This record gives sequence, structure tokens and C-alpha cells, in this order.
Amino acid sequence: MRELEIIKKLLEMYNKTPRHDEGYILGSMTTRPDNLAVYAYNLFIHTNAGDTRIFPTLEHFRREIIDFMSKLYGECTGFVTSGGTESNIVALYVAREKTGKKLVVAPRTVHHSIIWAAHLLGMKIVFTSVTDNHVVDIHDLRSIVEEKREDIAAIVITAGTTEWGSIDPVREVADIARQNNIYLHVDAAYGGLFIPALYEKGYIDTDLKFYSGVSSISVDFHKNGLSPIPSGIILFRDNKLLSYARRELPYTLGKYQYGLLGTRPGGSIAAIWAVIKKYGVQGYSEIAIRCMRTAQHLYDRLARIQDIIVWKPVLPIVVFKSRRMPTEKLLEELVKQGYYVYRAPSVDGLRIVVMPHVTNEHIDRFVNTLSEILGEKTE
Ligand SMILES: Cc1ncc(COP(=O)(O)O)c(C=O)c1O
Repeated sequence: MRELEIIKKLLEMYNKTPRHDEGYILGSMTTRPDNLAVYAYNLFIHTNAGDTRIFPTLEHFRREIIDFMSKLYGECTGFVTSGGTESNIVALYVAREKTGKKLVVAPRTVHHSIIWAAHLLGMKIVFTSVTDNHVVDIHDLRSIVEEKREDIAAIVITAGTTEWGSIDPVREVADIARQNNIYLHVDAAYGGLFIPALYEKGYIDTDLKFYSGVSSISVDFHKNGLSPIPSGIILFRDNKLLSYARRELPYTLGKYQYGLLGTRPGGSIAAIWAVIKKYGVQGYSEIAIRCMRTAQHLYDRLARIQDIIVWKPVLPIVVFKSRRMPTEKLLEELVKQGYYVYRAPSVDGLRIVVMPHVTNEHIDRFVNTLSEILGEKTE
């Protein structure tokens, strides 16, 4: 095929592909990346973060990214990963290597990648129960820790659960981890960039920091950070912990690599650097508040539909279900109308994640369609 024909075909396929800014992608934790981040990614597309002796500018970016993360959560170190799944695998790997133990304690609300990570690493998970607010039951956690202390490699909690956006009480769990000398990993892939701002402005009552007792935190920039996929970060409280994620590759100039990948995209590091310079703490705070307000608008509108049960959002994730129409049928009806929402399996419901591309107009159009499907008039 000639290049022109390939381009024509590509554009044809592109036109058949949903775009976030059209407002129909309402369940996936993805969004349209910032143009500057795409530019940075493309500029550094030839670089391999698997050897920063050849590409030392990537190391420069990494240091500045870590400075930014340290401003958000307190002194830490770490590296850019391909996303939340890799970060979680690395965190559990580090916990296993550090302790030589194989038991993970976590509430049921942890992301599936934690279960996958434990499986890959030959580790076993003991699940704690969760409260009605979908956070770890602290009493249950305490008693499991008391009983199994000698075998535990790590406790894992989530700051912004995938299904509910609930935030496990990081400080309280950190106290338990510290008192018992247990590794604590906080998966903040989704909530990490929003929580400090929403806490400061009084929207939520749980903050996220490297409290004494927290060993690692993972955050994704390809979720609310507006960087292209793949852009994740794993942070450790000190270099000693970070060193467990390092392995030798003697034939390269850099000699060492971090994380799961060998050759890894330097573009992601440049893109994250670009968005943190562009938005900074203040810019991410504004995005967080905008998403939160849009989620509240969605909640208010859904609450006015008689057939709908809706749960108040903690972070910008709204869970709802129909009283009469089975969830799978409703999901299919929405797909027929071009909408992509996700499931909320624990209540056999649906959920919308208000990502940065979602506007009040998108929400109004969605609610009108939903009302029509349910045969109700909208106000
Ligand atoms: C809390 C949490 N952790 C981890 C992940 C996995 O992230 P990724 O899809 O970037 O690997 C997700 C994805 O939705 C998530 O919500």
C-alpha cells in the first residue's frame, strides 16, 4: 500500500473510533490527553527510559517529577511506569523481596491488578471486610494483622477505589502498618492527583500523604493527569525501598533498569513532566474541583429520576441503578444510544466516572437519554 492510501485508511478508521470530547465515553478512566503532553511524548518518542545513560534528559525529567510528587505527598522517590497495573505489581514485588513473606492483606475493594500481581508473584491475599462506605473495616484489619503478623508481606489499600471512588483511611492504616512494622502500599492510581486538593477544599475528609508507615504510593497520570497512555508512577518513601525494584542489565550503558519493562517509553516521562509544569498543584486542584462539581450535577439530576437509585459520590464517580430495568438490559440500551458506561458489580449497578473531558452538557444529554430509555419525562 502507498503511504497516502494508508493515511486515508487510517483516517477512515479514526472516524469510526469514539473520542472522549464527544462525551459518550463515561465509564472508562481514560480521557483526552493534553496537547502539550502529546507534543512532549512525540518529541521524545525515540527515547528509551531503559537506558538513561544514553538519554540522561529523561533522568532530569524524572527528578523534577519526583520533586512535584514530593510536594504533593511528602519526601519520596520513584519512577515512571506503564500504569497502575505495573505499579501495583512492582509494589508487591518490593514488599515480597524486602520481607521474604508472601501474604497480602487488603480490603475486597482493591483493584483487580492487585489480585493479578499477587497471583504472578506467588503471593496469597487475605481479604478484610469493608464498611457500608466501601472502605476497609479497621477492626477487621487489626484482628487479621494481630493473628497473621508474622506472615504478612504487605497491606494494600486504595485511595480512590475503582468502583466507588471511596478512600481507605490512609492515616489510620499507616499507624497499624508502622506499629506492626508491615509494608503498606497505597494504590492511588485513580484518586492520587485529586485527593490532596479535594481534601484541602473540604470535599472529602481523608487525605493522602507519605504518613509514617506508608511505604509506597502509586498514581496514574494517564487517568486524571492528562498525560497519554502509558503514564503511571510508583513512589517509594526512600531509596532503600526503591533499590528492591532495580535489577542489573550489565550489557547496557546504564547497567540497571527499574520496573517490569526493559525498553520503556521515554515519551511518557517527557509528557508527565510537561503536564506537571503546565498545571502544577493549582491546575490539578482546579480540574479536581470541576470534575467533582460535574459529578454532583450528575448525582442531582439522577436523584430526580424516580426509577433510579443513586449513591452520593466521594470522588467524581457516580454509581446508580434502575429499580425496574435489569442492569444488563439498561447497559445494552445505553450502548445502542452510543454511550459507554461501566458496571458497578457490588450493587449490580452502573457507574459513571467523571473524567476531565466530561462537561455538564454531556451529563444533561446523557440523563435525557437515560430518562427516555426508562420511559420517564426529564425536568
Ligand atoms: C485503583 C486502580 N488501581 C489500578 C488500576 C490499573 O491501572 P492501569 O489500567 O493503568 O494499569 C486502576 C484502573 O482503573 C485503578 O482504578
